Amino acid sequence: MANTRNIAFIGAGNMPQSIIGGMVRGGYPASAIYASNPSRPKLDTLAQKHGIHTSQDNLEVVKQADVIVLSVKPQLMADVCAHLREHVSDLADKLVITIAAGIRIEKYHQYLGDNVRIVRVMPNTPSLVGEGVSGLAADPQVTQDDKDFVTEVFDYVGKTIWVKDEDGIDVLGAVAGSGPAYFFEFMAGLQQVAEELGFSSEDARAMVQQTALGAAQMASQSDLSLVELRKQVTSKGGSTAKGIEAYQAAGLDDISARAVKAAVARNQEMAKLF
Ligand SMILES: NC(=O)c1ccc[n+]([C@@H]2O[C@H](COP(=O)([O-])OP(=O)(O)OC[C@H]3O[C@@H](n4cnc5c(N)ncnc54)[C@H](OP(=O)(O)O)[C@@H]3O)[C@@H](O)[C@H]2O)c1
Repeated sequence: MANTRNIAFIGAGNMPQSIIGGMVRGGYPASAIYASNPSRPKLDTLAQKHGIHTSQDNLEVVKQADVIVLSVKPQLMADVCAHLREHVSDLADKLVITIAAGIRIEKYHQYLGDNVRIVRVMPNTPSLVGEGVSGLAADPQVTQDDKDFVTEVFDYVGKTIWVKDEDGIDVLGAVAGSGPAYFFEFMAGLQQVAEELGFSSEDARAMVQQTALGAAQMASQSDLSLVELRKQVTSKGGSTAKGIEAYQAAGLDDISARAVKAAVARNQEMAKLF
């Protein structure tokens, strides 16, 4: 573990619950983790399951923290930050991490002050099962030590990728953030055809799901490129080659490019809402 800092999550919804769970399982001391939320039930679960500190008062946990993780819905962010700015005099001494979608770092400086160190993180939904990808972007005031700390926190729920500017967050969001939906769409198509060709829904789903998992595991254990891996399982003149030919004829790569570019454009549009 790089270093332990007191870390406070503002908002105790699904994503922070997963991050906290990953941190505690990974050996981060529960006594250094705080969470606040307006209603009690999620806090009680977190306290019982992981032994962290909880409060219904954001200011109470922020007072104890070296690091604040803003984990409320984007539409609540301005109000939550205004409240912190009004009541917390030493915000500039703390590192602020935000996981809210769509709000740029520049906005947080407007909400919290120019001298506050901000890291923006875009985790994706598989973080909920410890297999996430998080894109991270920092403002120039953030130190290397801060970056190492944030990397460690999000490594607890998957892999971390630092982007060089926030446009990279829009792209990462369109690939990794939206990606699970693309894979589910593709997998649902394979399941459907397996059913049409005679398999029960249960068996069709199992074969698709396990194949996706197996392919992802093979890719993560191999140094070969994805194209090479594909070639390795495609014998010339065989049935897989015929299947791949059909995908290529339909322009699968072009479809992926169009999907990602459409999602990037939407991310850019949504950033303008804040
Ligand atoms: N889930 C994902 O896959 C994902 C992925 C990327 C980014 N994110 C971002 O992560 C953030 C949280 O998402 P989530 O899925 O965890 O949302 P969520 O499950 O809806 O949780 C939001 C939490 O914020 C609490 N809250 C409301 N007002 C608050 C306030 N004034 N102060 C403190 N807490 C307050 C809510 O409490 P009550 O229930 O008591 O109202 C709720 O527990 C969002 O900004 C989202 O954009 C999520």
